[in-house]
Amino acid sequence: MLNDKTIVVGVTGGIAAYKACDVVSKLKKLGANIHVIMTKSAKEFVCPMTFQTLSNNFVIDDMFEDPKTWEVEHIELAKAADLFLIVPATANFIGKLANGIADDMLTTTAMATTSQLVIAPAMNSNMYNNPIVKENISRLKSYGYKFINPASGLLACGDVGAGKLEETSKIVEYVENYFESIKLDEDKKDLKGLKVLVTAGPTVESIDPVRYITNRSSGKMGYSIAQRAAKRGADVILLSGKTNIEKPKELYKYIEIESADDLYREILAEFSECDVVIQSAAVADYKPKNYSDRKIKKSDGDLVIELSRNKDIAQELGKIKGEKVLVGFAAETNDVLENASRKIKKKNLDFIVANDLTKTGAGFNSDTNIVRIIGANGDVCEYPKLLKTEVADVILDRVENILSQKK
Ligand code: PMT
Repeated sequence: MLNDKTIVVGVTGGIAAYKACDVVSKLKKLGANIHVIMTKSAKEFVCPMTFQTLSNNFVIDDMFEDPKTWEVEHIELAKAADLFLIVPATANFIGKLANGIADDMLTTTAMATTSQLVIAPAMNSNMYNNPIVKENISRLKSYGYKFINPASGLLACGDVGAGKLEETSKIVEYVENYFESIKLDEDKKDLKGLKVLVTAGPTVESIDPVRYITNRSSGKMGYSIAQRAAKRGADVILLSGKTNIEKPKELYKYIEIESADDLYREILAEFSECDVVIQSAAVADYKPKNYSDRKIKKSDGDLVIELSRNKDIAQELGKIKGEKVLVGFAAETNDVLENASRKIKKKNLDFIVANDLTKTGAGFNSDTNIVRIIGANGDVCEYPKLLKTEVADVILDRVENILSQKK
């Protein structure tokens, strides 16, 4: 089952370190290639030779010992990992990772990896419930790190409560399920044959060659949708305002725009070919009425800039929609459901994704979003805080469902 998988197991210094031996042994028996990295304090609990024997690989514990290969060891391991498992993870390790401290082999490798990092904490229950530890855990979760929550029970220190390393069999089961879900994900090409257009990021409305009006959109929501739709087999056209984030891979087409007028022009040029249009861009409703091609000089008095209405692009598309699925977003600060529902009708959308900008972890720039999806017939689905990639999948599932009902 785990034959072609490389798993890096990080062991930190807690009494539960001895249980990591069992995890390594079980994963090895399932066929995984295991590399163990130990912290200095982990070696106070278990000797490296035990892990070496169980994993059939050298144990890495020292950044500066004689290298065994010509490659930079922590980068080599960070790249090789299909999964990075920390078992057990102490409050100290969690605190370092959450605060970007890389001062030993394990923290540097963990920081350098782009593979999924899964953390199985084990510590005294008061430590686990300490608000600083809780905050560090939720910070790491918001960056996409996964946690295998500790169990409750009698701890090594004699206290009873949450903090006991989860059963080793359950940790191994988690790893197996993780790879199983990745495989399902890879096999799931349910959007194959569809052309999906996604708008993302902010628009920029120029006042003069120096100044402009824009908004706080980072593009993360739209890029997540484009990335997930491409992964699920769709031909994705991404129309994006200027952002600082990396362009998703495997796009069919990428077009950068600046103003709402640019977006309108480009979207019309692509529209007829598309099956689905998902509009997550934050489009300016107004632009300066008169663009000054010279820098506007300051004077002693106030400056008044007259604004004129931009086209409501979604509304225009709604008029020529045909059989296409149109999805809008609503960024609201108040009366979220009422305002968002009004936009569905006005723009002739199949559904709208409403985010309440007053909630922490929702809306602009964060890696997560908290959304409510409102259907054309008024049904409302509410979701907890999810990664934007997870919100993207929820949206694409709904699109897929609408399309399959139309068949
Ligand atoms: O980019 P991030 O930092 O990840 O942030 C994500 C987000 C908050 C920008 C995104 O989740 C979001 O809510 N996008 C829509 C923001 C917005 O402009 O909402 P609106 O309520 O003003 O517009 C409603 C819908 O009409 C949107 O689909 C919008 O693209 C569209 N619209 C708006 C104005 C306009 N002139 N033309 C349009 O087509």
